[in-house]
Amino acid sequence: MIATIAFDWVEFFLRWLHVVAAIFWVGLALGFLRLNLTLKSTKADVWRAADDGVFRIARDMNIPAEAQPQIGWFRWEAYLVWLSGFALMVAIYFAKADLYLIDPAVLALESWQAILLVLMLLVVGWLGYDQLAKAPWSETARRVAVAIFLFALAFALTRMFSGRGAFLVFGAIIGTIMTANVAHYLVPNQRRMLEAIRTGVAPDEARFAVSRQRALHNNYLALPVLVLMLANHYPLAFASRFNWIIASLALVAGAAIRHFYVARHRGSGDLWWTWALAGAAGAAMVALSIFGAEKPQARAAAPKSAMDAIASVVAPRIGDVEDIVADRCVMCHARKPSWPGLAAPPKGVMLETRAQIAGRAKDIAAQAVWTRAMPPPGAHVPIGDDERRTLALWIASGAPAR
Ligand code: HEC
Repeated sequence: MIATIAFDWVEFFLRWLHVVAAIFWVGLALGFLRLNLTLKSTKADVWRAADDGVFRIARDMNIPAEAQPQIGWFRWEAYLVWLSGFALMVAIYFAKADLYLIDPAVLALESWQAILLVLMLLVVGWLGYDQLAKAPWSETARRVAVAIFLFALAFALTRMFSGRGAFLVFGAIIGTIMTANVAHYLVPNQRRMLEAIRTGVAPDEARFAVSRQRALHNNYLALPVLVLMLANHYPLAFASRFNWIIASLALVAGAAIRHFYVARHRGSGDLWWTWALAGAAGAAMVALSIFGAEKPQARAAAPKSAMDAIASVVAPRIGDVEDIVADRCVMCHARKPSWPGLAAPPKGVMLETRAQIAGRAKDIAAQAVWTRAMPPPGAHVPIGDDERRTLALWIASGAPAR
């Protein structure tokens, strides 16, 4: 009991750390990129008004001996995001793989197999991306190749894990790519640059080009990775039949929005088509979540008798719903869950009383009717299509509480 509560707080702390570090990393990195692009495009100093003065920012490679430039790539923010994210993934998706990661209807994995697969995919994601990003092609061709590689990964992930797990692992792969870019290229290249300046040799322009490329890639990936991490609470995105397309479209939309700002800060004008593209991708994500939603009525077997036919058009009463929820949900969604390893109801969702059930009608629809996100597929709770259909009919009739 005490141990489980302590564990919950550790998880809370890690989540907080993860979010705070991510805000610092993304905020600083995008702000820095903007400054960098503006300095290069105007070829003049940049003046920025702050709360207590005006700053003049210049790119200067003639550094006086007494100046001690610090490494300006926010590496600890990046590393902290990765480390806290990895710890969270272990605490939630690895420790409770049956609830979060595995869907036996997709692929019947044992927990250890699923975990091993995730670890391998993190490595494969980085190696594949890195090879494509340094292929001897034009930068546009490389970016297209990286995008196709990531779309293929999204597809593969949804064929291995639960929708929830696939989205999280996809986000983790992209986050690993971004962190590895920092650790493997940006920071070492800055070290070399400072070393070169200190010893009076000209810094290697080719390395600058690589750093620029990787910093830009990270900027394009920043928004999509956040969509993937937050999508966990939106089963219409992750548990849809089209979930891998939805994840890929998030990548397109996020990159398009960032492209608008990259072009603007470079002084190449306002590319309004990027917003049209992002809007179209967003609209397609919504449309796919609607088309991808389950249709429990259509799946139900034809009524066997006249009585069945009548029963199927009479709206179910809360008592019928209560019975289903008691059998299929309450072992986890109770003030004191009986499911081993759960100290508290997940996400605070309790479904023990009629009032609680009716109050959660919309959430029940999203999790258990429009999608099959609940009960968690890996938990092997034997809920039938007829039961989902009863929930669907109850919701369609306005989810009466009595
Ligand atoms: C084996 C345990 C288990 C069972 C059974 C179960 N759930 Fe859940 N439920 C979970 C877990 C774990 C989460 C937290 C998911 C997350 O962290 O995003 C959850 C989350 C939810 C949420 C909140 C989702 C969110 O992100 O806010 C709803 C609503 C929900 N479940 C409804 C149901 C319904 C309805 C049933 C029965 C048809 C059900 N659950 C059965 C474990 C269970």
